[in-house]
Amino acid sequence: MSEPAIRIVEVGPRDGLQNEKALVATATKVKLIHRLADCGLCQVEATSFVSPKWVPQLADAEQVMAGLVPRPGVSYPVLVPNLTGLERALAAGAREVAVFTAASEAFNRRNTNASVEESLQRFAPVMARAAEAGVPVRGYVSTVLGCPYQGEVPLADVVRVASALHAMGCFEVSLGDTIGVGTARRAAAMVRAVAAQVPVAQLAVHFHDTYGQALANILACLDEGVATIDSSVAGLGGCPYARGATGNVATEDVVYLLHGLGLATGVDLERLAATGDWISGVLGRGNGSRAGRALSARLAAQAPDTA
Ligand code: HMG
Ligand code: MG
Repeated sequence: MSEPAIRIVEVGPRDGLQNEKALVATATKVKLIHRLADCGLCQVEATSFVSPKWVPQLADAEQVMAGLVPRPGVSYPVLVPNLTGLERALAAGAREVAVFTAASEAFNRRNTNASVEESLQRFAPVMARAAEAGVPVRGYVSTVLGCPYQGEVPLADVVRVASALHAMGCFEVSLGDTIGVGTARRAAAMVRAVAAQVPVAQLAVHFHDTYGQALANILACLDEGVATIDSSVAGLGGCPYARGATGNVATEDVVYLLHGLGLATGVDLERLAATGDWISGVLGRGNGSRAGRALSARLAAQAPDTA
């Protein structure tokens, strides 16, 4: 099989499940992560070591990590907001972590109870301890194309925060349109501006699909040279501290787009569609992936009638 041209970072078990109202069983989370890895996804963001008071849904982070079976070539990164989170993650066996901040002050304060500058300061000891433990750190910048509280976010702030994360040693910076308000030309211009400071090979894009623009935005960013895309099976997702943020772009839709462009992902799309259908059923919600729904319907129509 050819080497994937595009790396997909599956964020469903973290970004998707953090936003679910009803508690999801730890065993279901573990099963979801394993099924996603079975589909050929090599980075599956597993959980968050944030404060359980802030995100009760992911309070079982230790138990999730304990249930994961290591596989060659598959990583299970986790979110850490501070040194406490990193220590918990390391004790639980995490081998890759991600820190997160925002381009907008108003959002960052609601999400992490800190200014952007304070959150960057919190990351300094996290970077040092992670380096000591040999654990790579990814950096997220939220609200890169708009903020639910502040509205417009100046491009200069996005570039400054992304550059700061890169300068402190993040191996990759993921640019998040947290509330999915961006459109294609603005998304491309944002990536171009950041790529003038951070090599595009070290950038990822992370689109929520609130306004249905995510695939168009991804296509525009591929044209800018982006080769890492965050997405979530069945379009699960949203941030509890971002009013109006709905699901992430669905992994099935992204894979369908990429394969249609002739870009290898290493992902088995039919298997992924089945996984998206399964988790949607477990959560009692509609499947947020258009490609996933279409593929599942086609496969069901082709299945031999056993009645
Ligand atoms: P705080 O209350 O200001 O923290 O929260 P603190 O340092 O003052 O500590 C207060 C208490 O929390 C203390 O316990 C700490 O020990 C404890 P107490 O003395 O009261 O018993 N504590 C912790 N416990 C467990 N794990 C920890 C931890 N840290 C402190 N890591 C904090 C500050 C950052 C912790 C909090 O605001 C928080 O956890 N926020 C996380 C919010 C979140 O998870 N949001 C969603 C993820 S970001 C996202 O979705 C966006 C993204 O997808 C990209 C995009 O879409 O744009 C990544
Ligand atoms: Mg997100």
